[in-house]
Amino acid sequence: MNKIKVGLLGIGNCASSLVQGTHYYKDPKAQVPGLITNNFGGYYAGDIEFVSAFDIDKRKVGKDLSEAIFQKPNCTTIFHEDIPKLDCTVQMGYILDGLADHLPKYHEDQRFDPLDDIYNSYSEAKSDVVRILKESGTEILVNYLPVGSEKAARFYAECCLEAHVALVNAMPVFLSQIYGDRFKEAGLPIVGDDIKSQVGATIVHRVLTKLFEDRGEKIKKTYQINVGGNMDFLNMVDRSRLESKKISKTKAVTSQIESGIDKDDIYVGPSDYIPWLNDNKVCFIRIEAEQYGGVPMDMELRLSVEDSPNSAGVITDAIRAAKVALDRKLAGPIIEASAYLFKSPVRQFDDATARDMLKDFAKPTQNAYNSVPSVETKTQ
Ligand SMILES: NC(=O)c1ccc[n+]([C@@H]2O[C@H](COP(=O)([O-])OP(=O)(O)OC[C@H]3O[C@@H](n4cnc5c(N)ncnc54)[C@H](O)[C@@H]3O)[C@@H](O)[C@H]2O)c1
Repeated sequence: MNKIKVGLLGIGNCASSLVQGTHYYKDPKAQVPGLITNNFGGYYAGDIEFVSAFDIDKRKVGKDLSEAIFQKPNCTTIFHEDIPKLDCTVQMGYILDGLADHLPKYHEDQRFDPLDDIYNSYSEAKSDVVRILKESGTEILVNYLPVGSEKAARFYAECCLEAHVALVNAMPVFLSQIYGDRFKEAGLPIVGDDIKSQVGATIVHRVLTKLFEDRGEKIKKTYQINVGGNMDFLNMVDRSRLESKKISKTKAVTSQIESGIDKDDIYVGPSDYIPWLNDNKVCFIRIEAEQYGGVPMDMELRLSVEDSPNSAGVITDAIRAAKVALDRKLAGPIIEASAYLFKSPVRQFDDATARDMLKDFAKPTQNAYNSVPSVETKTQ
């Protein structure tokens, strides 16, 4: 099998875990746990090769990717230190709205420390990024920009279209909805939006709400509160950047409650930044329901997980899904992969159905795009 030539946009904690993981899982025969899929359409985790990378931080731009992933403010667990030189230099990106205004108040070890913008105009930035994508042979760009980078996310999506590069969108700007048709016209797959961690707050909350529904218990009220100490949580202290994240996380849960829930009876969101937690994310879920005879019940759960490795395995599947889609000449939003792997696919399915779709799609010979079920779960 060929290598999968990947570009990374935003060399933060998620990128660090992903790059480490492609080396940790280098040997396809070693049945090491930690991935949803070992062989995905004939591709293994170690087949991913990083050929381009973009950031805006002084400590990352100009460095080889193998070094840049370990620079501050990255703080995720280092589980595979031994990364060879990758011959992939981190290039300066286009800042636009990538930086939140409140960040200068924090110590530089905790926040981005940007270089000055090097571009005089949008078109100058675009032609440079497109050139780098083309010259590096990037096939798939993974978008790891900070939450709230609406303009920057759109800018890089435009660059992908011009450079003829597929897109995996890990963050909550709804690029699959906004650009789905244009990617389809261009003959390019787009997989997204907003990565759903392997066993994280979203999938746990979704599965539990579905359990209550399936067992005939009406959910009356529910919340999901998340705290963490990484850059992602610091960035989200600025509530004005949070709108799309809240929509994405809330809809991921309400889409599983077929009987509906009043918007005032559900709260889902990141709630605070606690620096000493670093990349450890702690999530609290509460569900209040009505059981037999209208008798009330409630359930509480606490989840503690290292945030970035929790999404890197899922992105490993998403990248291979984009590559398989390219091989099969599929274009536009790839729902067979997006429904199970992302919080905000263009169509929501329950997770059991979505998992079957993904498994079919990942079979090396399966023409899986004919297998999408026609019944859609209710979205709100
Ligand atoms: N489990 C998870 O970790 C998880 C789950 C779902 C979604 N996400 C999303 O993935 C994204 C990445 O998360 P992360 O923890 O790696 O974030 P991070 O803050 O650690 O990294 C973001 C990187 O983007 C860079 N950047 C900022 N503006 C840029 C620009 N204009 N051009 C190029 N680079 C720029 C920053 O310098 C930084 O290195 C976030 O949007 C996050 O919400 C993460």
